Amino acid sequence: MKVLGIETSCDETGIAIYDGNSNQIISEKLFSQATKHSNYGGVVPELASRDHVRKLIPLLSDTIKESGISVENLDGIAYTAGPGLRGPLLTGAAMAQALALGWGIPCIGIHHMEAHLLINLLEDPAPSFPFLTLLISGGHCLIIRANDFGEYKVLGQSRDDAVGEAFDKVAKLLDLGYPGGPKIEELASTGDPNAFNLPRPMTKEPHLDFSFSGLKTAVFYTVRSEKNPSETFKSDLAASFQEAVADTLLLKSQKAIEQNSLDQLVIGGGVASNKYIRKKLVKGLKGKKIFFPPINRCTDNGAMVAVTGHYRLNKKDSSNDIIIRPKWSLSEL
Ligand code: KG4
Ligand code: ZN
Repeated sequence: MKVLGIETSCDETGIAIYDGNSNQIISEKLFSQATKHSNYGGVVPELASRDHVRKLIPLLSDTIKESGISVENLDGIAYTAGPGLRGPLLTGAAMAQALALGWGIPCIGIHHMEAHLLINLLEDPAPSFPFLTLLISGGHCLIIRANDFGEYKVLGQSRDDAVGEAFDKVAKLLDLGYPGGPKIEELASTGDPNAFNLPRPMTKEPHLDFSFSGLKTAVFYTVRSEKNPSETFKSDLAASFQEAVADTLLLKSQKAIEQNSLDQLVIGGGVASNKYIRKKLVKGLKGKKIFFPPINRCTDNGAMVAVTGHYRLNKKDSSNDIIIRPKWSLSEL
């Protein structure tokens, strides 16, 4: 089965085709709107929607051309139904449903965080159920026990700011612009991670929830206390913040592994593209099996939507899914 995936939940337009037989993405295209939004210090939903509308068709046509297959060989379409920005989500949903109707193939809306989780099944070797998952994105921070496809138990989550959100807000405090994560990572590479003693929130408690707003506030007060922040001050603070996040994620992951007696940890979401955090988790969880998607598939992309759509469209019991199955295609009219 070959599934077309469409991602438009925020500021990335992603299109990909996944082939279930070979378990491979046969072609994919991605356009990031980051520079468009950087002037505003964050994503402007209306501008994002308009840009998705502009980019969806050209990216779709390039993806199909590059795949070497014809549209008659596509068996289904998946799009991100949420969570995400409403306008941007609508652009992907409208296009997916129109194409499905035109081509006479089924169409399904999928959950964005399940897509961040399941993209790891493309890895070789792939994780095998049951496993633990740490999802660290701009809107969510979750620890999940994945017992099987579609069988997920949330063990912990952020009580306030998501981890990517904290990166973005700290970047703003340091005048680094948007998107904050990659900018902090770059600046932190020249700083001292032990220069400032920042909190590791909620790591002393037995539960697996997160809270990053206190850490962000600690950075705020540190910035405010310095009248003329030098470049060294900024890079040291970025490095100390990144270290505090990395430590927190590591301590919570260790706790989840101990509490659940599972030795596989699957990591996903935009913050998982941070090389410092990746290294810290791999080192700190030595002896456990750690899975990351490749760096370019940590942030939003069409491949994760296509993979998840393939699984959902093939599932025996789809009573919880809304699948549009056209009885005819426009070409038959
Ligand atoms: O998964 P994602 O693309 O979108 C959501 O589902 O939210 O994640 C975006 C988030 C942003 O907050 C961004 O700053 C963060 O991921 N991010 C990073 C890095 N690259 C992206 N955070 C830390 N280090 C990075 N290198
Ligand atoms: Zn995402």
